Amino acid sequence: MNRQSDPFVVHTAAHAAVHSALGAPLPHESAELHVSGEARYTDDIPEVQGTLHAALGLARLAHARIVSLDLRRVCEAPGVVAVLCAADIPGENNCGPVLHDDPVLADGIVQYLGQPVFAVIATSHDLARRAAALAASDDVMRYEPLDPVLSITEARARQHYVLPPLHLARGTPAERIAAAPHRIAGSFEVGGQEQFYLEGQVAYALPQEQDGMLVFSSTQHPSEMQQLVAHLLDWPAHRVACECRRMGGGFGGKESQSALFACVAALAAHKTGRPVKLRADRDDDFMITGKRHDALYEYEAGFDDEGRLLGARVEIALRAGYSADLSGAVATRAVCHVDNAYFLSDVDIVALCCKTNTQSNTAFRGFGGPQGALVMEVMLDGIAKQLNRDPLDVRRVNYYGVGERELTPYGQRVEDNVLAPLTDELLASSRYRERRAALAGWNRTSPVLKRGIAITPVKFGISFNVPHLNQAGALVHVYRDGSVLVNHGGTEMGQGLNTKVAQVVAGTFGLPLARVRVSATDTAKVANTSATAASTGSDLNGKAAEAAALTIRARLAGLAAAQYGCATEAVVFEDGTVQANGASVPFGEFVERAYLQRVQLWSDGFYATPKVHWDARTLTGHPFYYFAYGAAVSEVVVDTLTGEWKLVRADLLHDAGQSINPAIDIGQVEGAFIQGMGWLTTEELWWNRDGRLMTHAPSTYKIPAISDTPAAFTTRLFRNDNAEPTVFHSKAVGEPPLLLPFSVFLAIRDAVGAAVPEARVAAPLRAPATPEAILDAIEALRVEAPAVTPEPVAAGPAGGHAATPPVPAATRHEQAD
Ligand code: MTE
Ligand code: MOS
Repeated sequence: MNRQSDPFVVHTAAHAAVHSALGAPLPHESAELHVSGEARYTDDIPEVQGTLHAALGLARLAHARIVSLDLRRVCEAPGVVAVLCAADIPGENNCGPVLHDDPVLADGIVQYLGQPVFAVIATSHDLARRAAALAASDDVMRYEPLDPVLSITEARARQHYVLPPLHLARGTPAERIAAAPHRIAGSFEVGGQEQFYLEGQVAYALPQEQDGMLVFSSTQHPSEMQQLVAHLLDWPAHRVACECRRMGGGFGGKESQSALFACVAALAAHKTGRPVKLRADRDDDFMITGKRHDALYEYEAGFDDEGRLLGARVEIALRAGYSADLSGAVATRAVCHVDNAYFLSDVDIVALCCKTNTQSNTAFRGFGGPQGALVMEVMLDGIAKQLNRDPLDVRRVNYYGVGERELTPYGQRVEDNVLAPLTDELLASSRYRERRAALAGWNRTSPVLKRGIAITPVKFGISFNVPHLNQAGALVHVYRDGSVLVNHGGTEMGQGLNTKVAQVVAGTFGLPLARVRVSATDTAKVANTSATAASTGSDLNGKAAEAAALTIRARLAGLAAAQYGCATEAVVFEDGTVQANGASVPFGEFVERAYLQRVQLWSDGFYATPKVHWDARTLTGHPFYYFAYGAAVSEVVVDTLTGEWKLVRADLLHDAGQSINPAIDIGQVEGAFIQGMGWLTTEELWWNRDGRLMTHAPSTYKIPAISDTPAAFTTRLFRNDNAEPTVFHSKAVGEPPLLLPFSVFLAIRDAVGAAVPEARVAAPLRAPATPEAILDAIEALRVEAPAVTPEPVAAGPAGGHAATPPVPAATRHEQAD
């Protein structure tokens, strides 16, 4: 199967049947269910008789002591069956994944505006919400206000962190920068991002006999939901089962933060003895849950005439929010992605997890990787501007190379680098050089509309930075008729994991995909699973399922070899048949024969990623099994009077190794690109001076729409094999392409620069590049351009003016009203 063939041809059931399943561009196993509305999500599970509904009473101050909580009026509200607060929790009041600093229900102190304080259990969803809304009345909750910390700058100034700073250094960057022929220094800011899964947070808990609890949860991490619910109820884990058939999107937002909802539903079910469902309203979901970490950067670098980096320093101040959640791991991944595609001989990277009285920020596609790499791309772009060179040339002289230039700052070698040929291929297919030259001419004759173009590469490390998480299990059952059921520890959130795992199993047995079915993720089937995250879902669970299938296949082959008198290795599983010594038996028929011979037709499988190790103290080791690569060229047109812009063309080339399913992988690349573009352009989170998130619905928070995809949009998979023996030599694809739209942001910055051609510095454009930010950048460039010398002299990170935003970045949220 040529994996580069057009994945958009229509696939019929017959087509699926004839294709060898591995490597085929087959549709998502639930595609038809998704589009017809038949796919069953947690809220669609038919309700058991007597089901009650929960809603959360939220704090309305960002930081305060709860002086009194008088829930009488809430209890008396229509339809209310019970009202629960922290004191009702029999076990541990925590839903934090790493540190236990995340109360399920606030106890005595509220730490952000929107924090759940009590839960109302009522006969209907609507009545529960009406009663929960009483949280806003003074007679229900009285507070003594405390001083809130609301911005990254303020937290940083007070050294208010949820975790100690991370620091990775190599060589003598300060000396190298001081001695360099050229220097750049500046600051930059990027906003956060709401996951905006189409299916919001939801859990449905059903009490079982003998003190058991079954929790249906929309979660990327069923095992952790099981564990946290068990701790909350003070039960052993075997009394709790958590199940998830699918999510309507997770994007990292349901890796840890599904826990609060699972815990409250389980607590309520336990207390009332009745099934309880908790489905957050969209606005509540926004107000309660954490998002992608926004960041403030300070950077400084020294470079030669070609733009080759000689020394670099970067400080990333991330907004962690009020608790640690996954911020430590996010910050670690940020530190390990500052290099992106580039060799940094002498480097100093600091990451701060700033503690603020806002939602606790969490995983979001890329998991800190995008926040790490973005500052490097912004800096290299600034260097190119300063040297008046094509940014691509500056990038290429810095690409990882061979020998000493293979070594990442954290000590792992980049041994599978394909960025040089990948970039060449993209340059040719996108005609980047010609278009860039043409654009310059176009801009000279266009006074208001300006065009910009940019190419950016991606190198993304695959594996959890925490080595023990890199394990997975699966169960494969072959029934007597030859149909196959697979269960694995990963979760399906739209990314096509179940399709890929089914393809792997079908491929192993030589069966058409239709003969393999994947069942809901269930902690009662595969135990102690890791979150489906870090893009490792198909790498881990595909391998585990393959191992299980191989065990069964070996048993079948043994039987066939004995019956037909050939070597076990000579038995072939192909086209739905078992072939041995000239005989060919339909798979189902042979399986029935094996059953009668008392051959075990089901097996478990396990996989642990080899090679990975990590020293969290020194931030060095071999954290990634391999790297995924990609590059994108984006061209935009910006209206320099209104700040409006449009992406006119995008060319993406991405490395998915040998793709298990090119149709799904291309979907992942396109989806990640558009989602990342939203982060860097239209999606703006805005907190008021009191810490109230004002953008908590699609009316005020703008994710990309279909009309934002460019008219010319080409996505290709780079022809490559994984150098490591991953399943089918494929590569993880879920997160890496989220970094491709850096090219959109830098194309906008390029166009903004064209509005002030005399400026010798890159436009001080902040992200997201909203029309307001674009106009601010043009204005600042006009004001600053004549005064700016292209060579800032020995400026410290904070003193640089090369990319200082017009309005001090960190005060913007506070000024807003
Ligand atoms: N694609 C869809 N459609 N929906 C999602 O929620 N999550 C992303 C990515 N692609 C997501 C998605 C994130 S954050 C991750 S880590 C990976 O999918 C997880 O799945 P995988 O490991 O199976 O690729
Ligand atoms: Mo993805 S952010 O690792 O869930």
